[in-house]
Amino acid sequence: MKISRKTFGILSNGKKVYLYTLKAGDLSLSLSSYGAVWTSLIVPSGKGPAADILLGYSGFASYTGNKPYLGATIGRFGNRIGNACFTLDGRAYTLYQNDGQHSLHGGRRGFDKRCWKTECYEEKDGVFVRFELESPDGEEGYPGNLKAAVSYGLAKSNEIIVNYEASSDAPTPVNLTNHSYFNLSGEGSGDILSHEVVLYASSRVEVDKNLIPTGKLVPVENTPFDFRTRKSIQKDYMAAGGGYDHCFVLDGEKGALRPCAEVFEPGSGRVMRVFATQPGVQFYTGNFLDGIAGKAGSVYNKHAGFCLETQHFPDTPNRPEFPPAVFGPGKDYHEKAVFAFDW
Ligand code: GLA
Repeated sequence: MKISRKTFGILSNGKKVYLYTLKAGDLSLSLSSYGAVWTSLIVPSGKGPAADILLGYSGFASYTGNKPYLGATIGRFGNRIGNACFTLDGRAYTLYQNDGQHSLHGGRRGFDKRCWKTECYEEKDGVFVRFELESPDGEEGYPGNLKAAVSYGLAKSNEIIVNYEASSDAPTPVNLTNHSYFNLSGEGSGDILSHEVVLYASSRVEVDKNLIPTGKLVPVENTPFDFRTRKSIQKDYMAAGGGYDHCFVLDGEKGALRPCAEVFEPGSGRVMRVFATQPGVQFYTGNFLDGIAGKAGSVYNKHAGFCLETQHFPDTPNRPEFPPAVFGPGKDYHEKAVFAFDW
């Protein structure tokens, strides 16, 4: 096991950004202190050479204008908040509208655009980087001074271990997630439509045409959203509206680390299994990717990668019927996810 650090870039305010590389088992994961971004993940294959399976950019500069949130850590509240406002304890809060009239992924300057404090540590079975930041009361319109910490670790067992934590001095919505785009045949190798997927979800969050929840959780049975038995993304994605960008309701007890998804890529034999404590997972098939200049000449177009963003349901601050996502004094936020690889 090994952790190394190098300078990744320098921000206009003179602040140094570091790139960490964790090696454990057969994997190598690189992460940046800017945006707590996963920049690369090298995974072997039983059928060919190892490959970097994460979409990303060639150099640091592009990460400061990372519109699709490639690899980024998202906060204070991941996914959409309808009409960029919510009411909490009788008070109305207004957020920045960065997705039409709605708020997406933390607003104008979410956690993906922040420099995180970092600390590396080693445990018996893995190597970790812990990222921390403080988000002051009123930042991006949210109440409460929030302390957020995310630790990303690589275990000898070829797993990425993710621990999300936050505490606040006043009640506030929190929904942290990671927005990595995977292509299990290697970034830049075309689209992900032939990947085969299982989602451990019997229902999904119904959304309107702007991807804002209607409040209903609808069964996936007999719909293009049924991934309870393995099928290719290709099979029903047109019937689903030309791709997936939906929050699935994970089966099993929320709060317990339980199966979330499994993705298999037939060409390389690579498999990724995801486990999560959160109530849901946003399965996004890169529908909005359009000519993104990626790593070493790669160009990412529609469906060049997929995301599995483990999270609370979108628009929870406006949906009392959803599992609550308000944390604060006496109620810290703790969630966990695991991404396990095989080939
Ligand atoms: C999320 C959303 C998508 C899109 C991407 C970023 O996954 O659900 O609709 O906005 O982020 O491009």
